[in-house]
Formats: sequence, C-alpha cells, structure tokens
Amino acid sequence: MSDLKKPSDPKKLFIKTYGCQMNVYDSERMAESLGTKGYVTTDTADDADMILLNTCHIREKAAEKIYSELGRLKPLKAKNPDLKIGVAGCVAQAEGAEIMTRQPMVDLVVGPQSYHRLPQMEDALARGETALDTDFPEDDKFETLKSRPKAKRGPTAFLTVQEGCDKFCAFCVVPYTRGSEVSRPADRIIREAQELVEVGVREITLLGQNVNAYHGHDGGLAGLIWDLDKVDGLERSRFTTSHPNDMDDALIDAHGTCDKLMPYLHLPVQSGSDKTLKAMNRKHTREQYFKLIERIRAARPDLLLSGDFIVGFPGETEADFEDTMDLVRTVGYGQAYSFKYSTRPGTPAAERAQVDEDVKLDRLHRLQALLSEQQYEIQKSMIGRTVKVLFEKNGREPGQMIGKSEYLHAVFANTTDVSIGDLRDVRIVKSERNSLGGEIV
Ligand code: SAH
Ligand code: SF4
Ligand code: F3S
Repeated sequence: MSDLKKPSDPKKLFIKTYGCQMNVYDSERMAESLGTKGYVTTDTADDADMILLNTCHIREKAAEKIYSELGRLKPLKAKNPDLKIGVAGCVAQAEGAEIMTRQPMVDLVVGPQSYHRLPQMEDALARGETALDTDFPEDDKFETLKSRPKAKRGPTAFLTVQEGCDKFCAFCVVPYTRGSEVSRPADRIIREAQELVEVGVREITLLGQNVNAYHGHDGGLAGLIWDLDKVDGLERSRFTTSHPNDMDDALIDAHGTCDKLMPYLHLPVQSGSDKTLKAMNRKHTREQYFKLIERIRAARPDLLLSGDFIVGFPGETEADFEDTMDLVRTVGYGQAYSFKYSTRPGTPAAERAQVDEDVKLDRLHRLQALLSEQQYEIQKSMIGRTVKVLFEKNGREPGQMIGKSEYLHAVFANTTDVSIGDLRDVRIVKSERNSLGGEIV
C-alpha cells in the first residue's frame, strides 16, 4: 500500500560503531536510551529515521573515514528530509561544532560523556532544531542511564566500569576525547552484571580505557573481579585494556586463584625500546615490563598475552625498532595489534620530527610478520589439548557451532547437541588461519 507511516509506528534507529569495545558498549546503551523515545534498532541505514555514527579518533584514518561516511549518507537525506543524522563518540568530542560546519546535514553531535542527555537532545531534533553537547558534565552518564532491558541476549557482553585516562601517552587522544579517569561504583556494576545474567549472559568483559586503574571498589579491579566471581550464573570474566603500571599484586594473584577469570590478558607495551618508551611517556622500562610478565606467568603459566604496538613513533631508529622485535621474540604474544604511528593534532608527539611513511610501513610489515607467526604457532600448539568453549553462534556450515575458548581463540565444532550459551569441553584437532577446529568431548 503506501509508504506513509502512522504516528504510532516505532521510529527506526541505525547505529554504526567504529573504534574500541567501549564504543560497542556505548552504542548499546544509546540504543536503549533512545528506546525511551520510541526508537527501535534496524540493521540497515536505508529505512532508518535516525542514523548515528559512533566514531573513533585514535588514528587519522579513523577520523577521516567519518567524513567519507557522512558523504555517502547524503542521498539518503535527500530522499528523506526528515532523516536525522547524528555523530557520537570520540570524533564528536574532538571536533564538536566543526562537524556541522563541514557537513551541514548533521543534526546532532554528542560527546561520549553526554549520552544520558540523548532523550532531551532528541526532543530538540523533533522540534526541527539541531543539538550539540560535548561537555564533560558533573553527573555521571551511567548513573542516569536506565536499567538494562529484559530482552534475551547472547552469552557474552561488555560492561564498562571505568572511563577516561590520566596517563597522557605522548601519541594518544583518549585523555582529550574521554576526559579524566572516572570509575563506576562496584554495587551498580554488580547489579548490571546480575541483570545481564538474567537475560542469558554467561561471560562478561569489564571495559575501561585504563581498566586496571579502576578504583570504584576498595580492592580495586581485583576486588570487583572477586565480587563478580560470586554472581550466580556468570561463568567467566575478562577485562580490557590494561596499563602495565596498574597491574597490582592483587590483580596478578586473581589470575592465579579466581576460577572465573579467564587466562587471557591484553597488556599493551607499544615499544620495546627504553628510549621510545620514555619519549612516549609510558613511564616504565622494558626490563620492568619483562619482570611484570614473569610475575603474571608465575601466577598463571598458561595465560595467553595480547598486546598493542606502535611503529615509527617520532625519533624511532632502526635500533629502537629492533628492540621492539626483540621484546616480541622474548615475550611471545598469542594475539597482537600493531599500528603505524599516526599524528594526532593536539598531542605532544605531533609536534616532533616524524619518521618517513615508507620506513613506518616497512617496519609495520616486519613486525606483523613476526606477530602473526607467533600467533599461528601458539594456535597450533593447542592441537591435542582440551579447552572449554562458550558457544556463541551457528557456524557457516550446517551443523557447525562457533564459540571462544578460555584463551579467546575462536573454536568451531560440528555438533548437533550443543546450544548457544553452552559451555563444553572441546578437544582441538586442527588449526586454521584465524580459528581452531575441535570435537566435543
Ligand atoms: N588504553 C590503552 C589503549 C588505547 S588506544 C592502552 O593504554 O594501551 C588503542 C591502541 O591504539 C593503543 O594501544 C595504541 O597501540 C594505538 N594508538 C593510540 N594512539 C595512536 C596513534 N596516535 N598512532 C598509532 N596508534 C595509536
Ligand atoms: Fe592512551 Fe592508553 Fe596511554 Fe591512556 S594509557 S593515554 S588510553 S594509550
Ligand atoms: Fe577510538 Fe575513542 Fe575508543 S578514540 S579507540 S573510540 S576511546
């Protein structure tokens, strides 16, 4: 019949999420918050009444992508002038009103600390106005966001416990886009965890830009992990991202003693050169990092380490880069992310003499070759072992199920007697590029 919508039809919201897991969590909470204004989420931009880009500013390319994406949305706005377009996340925080100047079709710009104000901002849009909020308000957005809805969901979830960063690494925009460190009180986190378990969640990953600096519990992050350990029905916990200087004794100890805490740790080091670490303002040496890894592995010998690396930081010489390669060979990473240094306006390193782009690219290729070889070797070493897999979804082939092991490896198995959310012993029989194949024991 007709395309005309009745006033009672729910409005459709399309959110596209870029960047880190905190943005994934925030997108969920924004969808829930706009749900109070009659929005339901949709998987395509084509039929949306509102499109929200939840953006990342960490590297130059990530930020530029947003302007290209906005350009691509122009025809949709031309077709439907009532379509509202919003920009959230770290680009919104960094660029603010500039986004509306560069792309006048943008109706809404909202920074990460203001998401709880979205319903009021939506009222302004409904009146035909635009809305901009990039304050760092006194009130904590998480306190104001309502409880989580009761709809059934998948077995894994992110839960933000800490936000912002006071470390000011010389390359990084996060302290500027997310503000200073704020921790949520432990009791609210535990309540949210219980609500998640009630709707089917069995594994929770605690999130923070600097999650191990969490101070919303007297016992720090370890205290929170132990409280989470007592939540009935929750089987597994993880946390990310950590800074080496905030790995305290209690947290290291929890890796050895808390059964629900999984043996996987993302602990970025960025560089293996003392000179570069100092220039980056990372506030530790390579030797201190080695000692720390030794203590963590003494507490939990099978722990799988993951890391982030930056190559071509201003002033990095070939010898500095070789120190990074050497650190990687010494430590051994089961998983790692590596990036070419990207100049971020407003950060201290942006002002320094830069390394040539082709040198950066060459170093990135060499580092990535080493890291993927390690990743593959560690994956292969799982063959013959029995791991516990939390099954998350159906595989591509009929009768195939996919889940994650304790070590965060993707594991697939051909089986008909496993359901999503089941935790089962699986014997690993083969290793493929990015996953392991196994048989249910
Ligand atoms: N809080 C985390 C990381 C946040 S950003 C930590 O302290 O480790 C995620 C990763 O992006 C960083 O670990 C770093 O490797 C990379 N990154 C951040 N700024 C960058 C820049 N200007 N250029 C290239 N990579 C960058
Ligand atoms: Fe950025 Fe992480 Fe450094 Fe904070 S600790 S400034 S988030 S890299
Ligand atoms: Fe990107 Fe912001 Fe996360 S800059 S990595 S979305 S904190």
